[in-house]
Amino acid sequence: MDLSTKLRAWYRFNARKLPWRETTDPYAIWLSEVILQQTRVTQGLPYFDRFLETFPNVESLAASSEDKLMKLWEGLGYYSRARNLHKGAKYIVENGFPTSYDEWLKVPGVGPYTAAAIASFALHEEKAVVDGNVNRVIARLFAIHEPVNSTAGRKIIEEKASALIRKNPPAEHNQAIMELGALVCSPKSPDCSICPWNTECLALATGLVNTLPVKIKK
Ligand code: ADE
Repeated sequence: MDLSTKLRAWYRFNARKLPWRETTDPYAIWLSEVILQQTRVTQGLPYFDRFLETFPNVESLAASSEDKLMKLWEGLGYYSRARNLHKGAKYIVENGFPTSYDEWLKVPGVGPYTAAAIASFALHEEKAVVDGNVNRVIARLFAIHEPVNSTAGRKIIEEKASALIRKNPPAEHNQAIMELGALVCSPKSPDCSICPWNTECLALATGLVNTLPVKIKK
Protein backbone atom coordinates (compact mmCIF):
# COMPACT_ATOMS: atom_id res chain seq x y z
CA MET A 1 0.00 0.00 0.00
CA ASP A 2 1.42 3.42 -0.81
CA LEU A 3 2.02 6.07 1.82
CA SER A 4 -1.04 8.20 1.13
CA THR A 5 -3.37 5.20 1.02
CA LYS A 6 -2.13 4.03 4.42
CA LEU A 7 -2.41 7.53 5.86
CA ARG A 8 -5.95 8.03 4.58
CA ALA A 9 -7.07 4.62 5.90
CA TRP A 10 -5.80 5.68 9.34
CA TYR A 11 -7.54 9.07 8.98
CA ARG A 12 -10.94 7.53 8.20
CA PHE A 13 -10.91 5.66 11.49
CA ASN A 14 -9.26 8.28 13.69
CA ALA A 15 -10.11 11.77 12.46
CA ARG A 16 -11.88 14.26 14.68
CA LYS A 17 -15.24 15.27 13.31
CA LEU A 18 -14.81 18.96 12.56
CA PRO A 19 -17.43 21.16 10.88
CA TRP A 20 -15.11 22.57 8.21
CA ARG A 21 -14.41 19.02 7.07
CA GLU A 22 -18.08 18.46 6.30
CA THR A 23 -18.30 21.21 3.69
CA THR A 24 -16.82 22.19 0.35
CA ASP A 25 -18.08 25.77 0.66
CA PRO A 26 -14.97 27.88 -0.07
CA TYR A 27 -16.24 30.68 2.18
CA ALA A 28 -16.59 28.44 5.26
CA ILE A 29 -13.25 26.76 4.54
CA TRP A 30 -11.48 30.08 4.09
CA LEU A 31 -12.96 31.32 7.37
CA SER A 32 -11.90 28.17 9.23
CA GLU A 33 -8.34 28.35 7.95
CA VAL A 34 -7.96 32.01 8.94
CA ILE A 35 -9.31 31.27 12.42
CA LEU A 36 -7.03 28.22 12.80
CA GLN A 37 -3.86 30.02 11.70
CA GLN A 38 -2.78 30.98 15.20
CA THR A 39 -5.54 29.32 17.19
CA ARG A 40 -6.14 25.81 18.54
CA VAL A 41 -9.01 23.78 17.15
CA THR A 42 -10.88 23.66 20.49
CA GLN A 43 -10.60 27.43 20.90
CA GLY A 44 -11.48 28.16 17.27
CA LEU A 45 -14.58 25.96 17.05
CA PRO A 46 -17.10 28.24 18.85
CA TYR A 47 -15.78 31.26 16.91
CA PHE A 48 -16.24 29.42 13.64
CA ASP A 49 -19.88 28.60 14.52
CA ARG A 50 -20.68 32.14 15.72
CA PHE A 51 -19.02 33.66 12.68
CA LEU A 52 -21.02 31.56 10.24
CA GLU A 53 -24.23 32.32 12.12
CA THR A 54 -23.59 36.06 12.02
CA PHE A 55 -22.10 36.13 8.52
CA PRO A 56 -23.48 33.13 6.62
CA ASN A 57 -21.92 34.22 3.33
CA VAL A 58 -19.19 36.43 1.91
CA GLU A 59 -21.62 39.24 1.05
CA SER A 60 -22.77 39.65 4.65
CA LEU A 61 -19.18 39.68 5.86
CA ALA A 62 -18.13 42.27 3.28
CA ALA A 63 -21.08 44.49 4.24
CA SER A 64 -20.37 44.31 7.99
CA SER A 65 -18.96 47.24 9.93
CA GLU A 66 -15.37 46.86 11.15
CA ASP A 67 -16.68 47.23 14.73
CA LYS A 68 -19.09 44.33 14.53
CA LEU A 69 -16.39 42.11 13.03
CA MET A 70 -13.83 43.04 15.69
CA LYS A 71 -16.38 42.40 18.43
CA LEU A 72 -16.93 38.86 17.10
CA TRP A 73 -13.17 38.29 16.88
CA GLU A 74 -12.60 39.39 20.48
CA GLY A 75 -10.53 36.85 22.41
CA LEU A 76 -8.88 35.28 19.36
CA GLY A 77 -6.01 37.78 19.13
CA TYR A 78 -3.94 38.63 16.05
CA TYR A 79 -6.56 41.15 14.96
CA SER A 80 -4.86 41.67 11.60
CA ARG A 81 -6.46 38.34 10.63
CA ALA A 82 -9.93 39.85 11.09
CA ARG A 83 -9.04 43.00 9.17
CA ASN A 84 -7.62 40.88 6.33
CA LEU A 85 -10.73 38.72 6.34
CA HIS A 86 -12.80 41.87 5.86
CA LYS A 87 -10.57 43.06 3.01
CA GLY A 88 -10.65 39.60 1.49
CA ALA A 89 -14.45 39.49 1.63
CA LYS A 90 -14.72 42.82 -0.17
CA TYR A 91 -12.25 41.59 -2.80
CA ILE A 92 -14.27 38.39 -3.36
CA VAL A 93 -17.59 40.26 -3.62
CA GLU A 94 -16.00 42.44 -6.28
CA ASN A 95 -14.11 39.73 -8.20
CA GLY A 96 -16.04 36.53 -7.49
CA PHE A 97 -14.67 33.46 -5.73
CA PRO A 98 -11.21 32.41 -6.90
CA THR A 99 -11.27 29.14 -8.82
CA SER A 100 -7.66 27.99 -8.32
CA TYR A 101 -4.68 28.10 -5.96
CA ASP A 102 -3.07 30.90 -7.98
CA GLU A 103 -6.24 33.00 -7.81
CA TRP A 104 -6.66 32.44 -4.07
CA LEU A 105 -3.14 33.82 -3.55
CA LYS A 106 -4.38 37.18 -4.89
CA VAL A 107 -6.95 37.55 -2.10
CA PRO A 108 -5.72 39.99 0.57
CA GLY A 109 -4.33 38.12 3.57
CA VAL A 110 -4.17 34.71 1.85
CA GLY A 111 -0.68 33.16 1.77
CA PRO A 112 0.59 29.87 0.29
CA TYR A 113 -0.63 27.71 3.19
CA THR A 114 -4.18 29.09 3.22
CA ALA A 115 -4.41 29.05 -0.58
CA ALA A 116 -3.31 25.40 -0.67
CA ALA A 117 -5.79 24.45 2.05
CA ILE A 118 -8.75 26.12 0.29
CA ALA A 119 -7.74 24.93 -3.20
CA SER A 120 -7.46 21.33 -2.01
CA PHE A 121 -10.48 21.20 0.33
CA ALA A 122 -12.93 23.26 -1.74
CA LEU A 123 -11.66 22.84 -5.31
CA HIS A 124 -9.94 19.44 -5.08
CA GLU A 125 -6.82 20.90 -6.61
CA GLU A 126 -3.71 18.74 -6.14
CA LYS A 127 -1.81 21.16 -3.92
CA ALA A 128 0.03 20.01 -0.80
CA VAL A 129 -0.50 21.99 2.40
CA VAL A 130 2.62 22.71 4.43
CA ASP A 131 2.07 24.00 7.95
CA GLY A 132 3.85 23.32 11.24
CA ASN A 133 2.29 19.87 11.57
CA VAL A 134 3.22 18.86 8.03
CA ASN A 135 6.79 20.17 8.46
CA ARG A 136 7.26 17.93 11.46
CA VAL A 137 5.68 14.81 9.92
CA ILE A 138 7.71 15.10 6.71
CA ALA A 139 10.99 15.99 8.41
CA ARG A 140 10.61 12.81 10.51
CA LEU A 141 9.26 10.51 7.79
CA PHE A 142 12.20 11.28 5.47
CA ALA A 143 14.75 12.13 8.20
CA ILE A 144 15.35 15.62 6.82
CA HIS A 145 18.10 17.37 8.78
CA GLU A 146 17.90 20.71 6.98
CA PRO A 147 16.16 23.25 9.25
CA VAL A 148 12.48 23.35 8.30
CA ASN A 149 12.54 27.15 8.50
CA SER A 150 15.53 27.56 6.16
CA THR A 151 15.20 28.16 2.42
CA ALA A 152 16.79 24.79 1.61
CA GLY A 153 14.67 22.96 4.19
CA ARG A 154 11.44 24.54 2.95
CA LYS A 155 12.23 23.49 -0.60
CA ILE A 156 12.88 19.85 0.34
CA ILE A 157 9.73 19.63 2.48
CA GLU A 158 7.64 21.20 -0.29
CA GLU A 159 8.97 18.65 -2.81
CA LYS A 160 8.35 15.71 -0.50
CA ALA A 161 4.86 16.96 0.41
CA SER A 162 3.98 17.41 -3.28
CA ALA A 163 5.28 13.95 -4.17
CA LEU A 164 3.19 12.35 -1.38
CA ILE A 165 -0.08 13.91 -2.54
CA ARG A 166 0.44 13.15 -6.24
CA LYS A 167 -2.49 11.30 -7.82
CA ASN A 168 -4.24 11.01 -4.45
CA PRO A 169 -7.50 12.67 -3.34
CA PRO A 170 -6.13 16.08 -2.31
CA ALA A 171 -8.71 17.09 0.29
CA GLU A 172 -8.57 13.86 2.23
CA HIS A 173 -4.79 13.55 1.95
CA ASN A 174 -4.16 17.07 3.25
CA GLN A 175 -6.63 16.77 6.13
CA ALA A 176 -5.06 13.42 7.00
CA ILE A 177 -1.44 14.56 7.12
CA MET A 178 -2.38 17.55 9.30
CA GLU A 179 -4.39 15.26 11.56
CA LEU A 180 -1.47 12.86 11.90
CA GLY A 181 0.73 15.77 13.02
CA ALA A 182 -1.91 16.95 15.48
CA LEU A 183 -2.90 13.59 17.00
CA VAL A 184 0.07 11.21 16.63
CA CYS A 185 3.28 12.82 15.39
CA SER A 186 3.24 15.54 18.04
CA PRO A 187 6.23 17.74 18.87
CA LYS A 188 7.10 16.39 22.34
CA SER A 189 5.61 12.93 22.76
CA PRO A 190 4.76 11.32 19.42
CA ASP A 191 3.00 7.96 19.71
CA CYS A 192 4.89 6.01 17.06
CA SER A 193 3.29 2.73 18.17
CA ILE A 194 -0.03 3.77 16.60
CA CYS A 195 1.39 5.64 13.58
CA PRO A 196 0.29 4.36 10.14
CA TRP A 197 3.76 5.23 8.85
CA ASN A 198 5.81 3.59 11.61
CA THR A 199 7.30 0.99 9.26
CA GLU A 200 8.35 3.66 6.74
CA CYS A 201 9.49 6.44 9.07
CA LEU A 202 13.24 7.04 8.71
CA ALA A 203 13.45 9.06 11.93
CA LEU A 204 11.91 6.21 13.89
CA ALA A 205 14.21 3.64 12.26
CA THR A 206 17.30 5.67 13.15
CA GLY A 207 16.29 6.93 16.60
CA LEU A 208 15.87 10.53 15.48
CA VAL A 209 12.20 11.14 16.28
CA ASN A 210 13.01 13.47 19.16
CA THR A 211 15.81 15.23 17.25
CA LEU A 212 13.71 16.16 14.19
CA PRO A 213 12.56 18.56 12.93
CA VAL A 214 15.53 20.92 13.22
CA LYS A 215 14.68 24.61 13.51
CA ILE A 216 17.09 27.53 13.36
CA LYS A 217 16.53 30.26 15.92
CA LYS A 218 15.77 33.56 14.26
N1 ADE B 1 -5.54 23.57 11.40
C1 ADE B 1 -5.52 24.28 10.28
N2 ADE B 1 -6.36 23.79 9.38
C2 ADE B 1 -6.96 22.74 9.96
C3 ADE B 1 -7.95 21.81 9.54
N3 ADE B 1 -8.50 21.91 8.33
N4 ADE B 1 -8.31 20.84 10.39
C4 ADE B 1 -7.74 20.76 11.61
N5 ADE B 1 -6.83 21.60 12.06
C5 ADE B 1 -6.44 22.59 11.24
